[in-house]
This record gives sequence, C-alpha cells and structure tokens, in this order.
Amino acid sequence: MKAFIVKRYGKKDKLQLEIIAEPTVKENDILVQVCAAGVNLIDSKVKSGEFKLVLPYKAPFVLGHDVAGVVTKVGSRVTKFKVGDEVYARPADHSIGTFAEYISINEKDVAIKPKNISMEEAASIPLVGLTAWQALVEKAKLKKGQKVFIQAGSGGVGTFAIQLAKHLGATVATTTSTNNIALVKSLGADVVIDYKKEDFETILKDYDVVLNSQDTKTLEKSLQILKPGGIAISISGSPDVDFAKQIGASWFVKLIMKILSSGIRKKAKQLGVNYSFLFMRAEGNQLSEITSLINAGIIKPVIDKVFPFEQTNEALAYVESGRAKGKVVIKVK
Ligand SMILES: NC(=O)c1ccc[n+]([C@@H]2O[C@H](COP(=O)([O-])OP(=O)(O)OC[C@H]3O[C@@H](n4cnc5c(N)ncnc54)[C@H](OP(=O)(O)O)[C@@H]3O)[C@@H](O)[C@H]2O)c1
Repeated sequence: MKAFIVKRYGKKDKLQLEIIAEPTVKENDILVQVCAAGVNLIDSKVKSGEFKLVLPYKAPFVLGHDVAGVVTKVGSRVTKFKVGDEVYARPADHSIGTFAEYISINEKDVAIKPKNISMEEAASIPLVGLTAWQALVEKAKLKKGQKVFIQAGSGGVGTFAIQLAKHLGATVATTTSTNNIALVKSLGADVVIDYKKEDFETILKDYDVVLNSQDTKTLEKSLQILKPGGIAISISGSPDVDFAKQIGASWFVKLIMKILSSGIRKKAKQLGVNYSFLFMRAEGNQLSEITSLINAGIIKPVIDKVFPFEQTNEALAYVESGRAKGKVVIKVK
C-alpha cells in the first residue's frame, strides 16, 4: 500500500511516499481502507521530534492521527464492527498511521461515521472532537448557564468546541482575527474578541472555564478571568503530573512535568482557581456520542481545505502556517 512515512525526525524533513506492506490485523483490530485523513498540528510536532519524550516513535513510521474509511477486514475478537461499515477514528498513540491506504485500529478506538457528512468531513472530526469533549464534558463538566472562554475559535479545536459548548448551554467567548469573526459568530460564539485589536483579559471576567490552546502568557492571563473555583484546561503548554501518569511515564518524566507545571500551578493556587493539562486520548465510545450530535445536526464540521493524497506534505505545511479556518483534510480514496 502507499503510505507517507517519517524516515527520520526533523522539522524540515518531508514525509516520504513509499510502498509498504499492509498492516497486520490483530484479534481486536479492524482494517480500515482509508478514504480521508485529517491533518493536525500533532502530526508536525511528532515529525519534528518535539514530542519524543512523551511519544517516542521509532522511525521509519507512518504519520497521521485522524481517519474516515471503510472496514475491509475484522479481527477474530471484534464484536462491534463488520466488513463494509463506514467508520471514523483517532487511533491510539503508538498505533497511528492514517496517511496511508490502510490502517489497522483497535475497535475500542473506532465509531460509526455520521451518516449526514462526507468521508472528508468525517476525517476532520475525531481528534479535535475528542479534545473538546474531554476538555468541556469530561474535565470541566460544563453546565447550562456557565461561561466558557474558548481561545482561537476559528481553529480546528475551536470550531468544534464552540458548537459543543453552545449545545451544553454555556455562554461562549472566543478570540479570533478580523477575517474570521463572521465564522465564529455563525458557530454560536456570544462574545467575540479580535485578538489583534483587543486584550481579552480586560474584557472577560468571572468565567467558569477556559480552554487554553495558546502560549504560556495567554494561559497566565486566562487564569485572571476565571471566577474563584473556575478551571483553566490547557491543551498546549505545561503538561502536569496527571498527564505523566496517564501516559505511564517514568518517575523522571513525572518529575520533569511537575517542575514544568509548577509555575502555572502556583499562580492558579494564588488566584483560587484550578489548572489542568489535557492531552486527548483515543476513545470510541465518546466518538459515538459525537456521531449522535452530528447526525442530529447539532455539530457541523468546518473544513478549510481538502488536499489530494499526493500533496500530504503541502497539507501539513498549510496546517503549520497556523492560519487554517477549521480543518485540513487529505483525500486518500
Ligand atoms: N493537548 C491536546 O490533546 C491537543 C489536541 C488538539 C490540539 N492541541 C493543540 O492546540 C492548539 C490548537 O490546535 P488547533 O488544531 O485548533 O489549531 P489550528 O486549527 O491550526 O489553529 C489555527 C487557528 O488559530 C487561530 N489563531 C492563531 N493564533 C491565535 C491567537 N493568538 N489567538 C486566537 N486565535 C489564534 C487562527 O486564526 P487567525 O488566522 O484569525 O489568527 C486559526 O484559525 C495547537 O497547539 C495544537 O497542537 C492539543
């Protein structure tokens, strides 16, 4: 099969298109013929080696964290899926590789694809959808009437998170630049701050939840807009010890994460608010709940560009530009 491979770690190194063997299907796996693959910033962070400490992949390996496609084979112990099912997934860490014609995935990471969207749209959902779900539903337990600040509302995570937060009944504030104001408003954002012209920390106050996706300075400012007892959940910046435990890290990595997050934890404590780092995980059951929301028309995919498979490197470069409006997808079949 054709696959885009990381031959060696490096920011400037391009993925190589090669012919490799189809993946083997373990007893709990399903083999998915990839129709479309979503592109995420984690792809470029893994490729550059930035994530080596927490996600050590041995090169050469196939890159890609989001998939939509058709089941072509099932392992002997698979119970939830059959050949011909249309599915989507964010395969678990250490089992990635969606920039290819086939991928074998543990069935617990997979869900049936929403019926009312295309394969390209479906491939745009799993990683960002699960990130928003795990931040807003699982960690923050966001409730009707609460106020949430979602940074970068026009990005992959932001476009999904705004829609999910509105569905949960929250008031949503977000940041974006002038060109994307209409987009985030159309998704339901109540308060829109043009981050190039205004400082959110002078406008927002008494928020229950912040979903931080920007730099440490932004995270520190975000703590100030929370009400006492509120929570800032960061998907970028300093990982904490809970995250180290989640990935089964060594005592050494745990110690590094404790040190890395000590400054922000201290600032949060002084303000009487909470800080938590989130590194999303694969989770087919949560993805099934997301399928229901999409089938019901409550959440709609937001796609910026679809690239042909041969242009996977160009798709990755576009995501790296940081200007994507919603998601970038590769059409494989
Ligand atoms: N920990 C996890 O599990 C996890 C999961 C998913 C993503 N992430 C991380 O979360 C971050 C966001 O991911 P993403 O996929 O949503 O990124 P993305 O789609 O590439 O974000 C691009 C968007 O960000 C907006 N933006 C850029 N700088 C901004 C700023 N200073 N303030 C507000 N908006 C800004 C851009 O809007 P303009 O063009 O208008 O500037 C653009 O629409 C990345 O660092 C990613 O690695 C982490």
